[in-house]
Amino acid sequence: MTPDEDRSPIDWETRFRDNDTPWERATVHPAFAAWEASGAFIADERVVVPGCGRSPEVLAFAKAGLTAAGIDLSPTAIDWQTDQFATAKQSARLIAGDVLAWTPPEPVDLVYDQTFLCAIHPRLRSDYETTLLRWLKPGGRMLALFMQKDERGGPPYGCPLDVMRDLFSDMRWRWPEPETISTWPHPQLNGKPELSAVLVKR
Ligand SMILES: C[S@@+](CC[C@H](N)C(=O)[O-])C[C@H]1O[C@@H](n2cnc3c(N)ncnc32)[C@H](O)[C@@H]1O
Repeated sequence: MTPDEDRSPIDWETRFRDNDTPWERATVHPAFAAWEASGAFIADERVVVPGCGRSPEVLAFAKAGLTAAGIDLSPTAIDWQTDQFATAKQSARLIAGDVLAWTPPEPVDLVYDQTFLCAIHPRLRSDYETTLLRWLKPGGRMLALFMQKDERGGPPYGCPLDVMRDLFSDMRWRWPEPETISTWPHPQLNGKPELSAVLVKR
């Protein structure tokens, strides 16, 4: 088993090379747009997008004035991000590497998880939670989109709220009021709903 296969059941690099990427949206996620409109993005704050793939949100964060970083296993996806940033004359830290093995040079204010947690094998989830605790400042926020699905297996691996509440324990994370958690059907993934929630590291 190669290190990438150990980290993920899919050959992501080949998926990007083949443009076999049904999770991608044409524009930024509507939850991202709603968070931005609500003032959740603060200029000069540091944000990391784990498993950023070719998501346009990394550049959108930079355009909103944040110091952005994106990390992904796929060099093709990171090359795509690099080209986008060059064209837009913006800058970001773009890393081809393993989210679970990386540490930002300084603690960050924000993590934006969009179809990353649902893409890694559930046995890696607790490592991921530890990784986020390592990355974030106390009071730092995770903007999460938890993918919901009924079928067994994956990816995407479903992230039911009760399982998420166990993973992101109240001891380490402050959860939002339930009525602030919104539902966003994914247009390309059979309308599977994603639940948006902002979790704050204690
Ligand atoms: C379903 S895609 C989502 C991509 C992007 N977030 C988006 O919304 O378009 C999952 C991404 O996670 C990346 N990935 C999976 N496991 C990874 C890991 N351990 N470290 C870094 N990236 C990983 C894949 O290469 C892929 O780009």
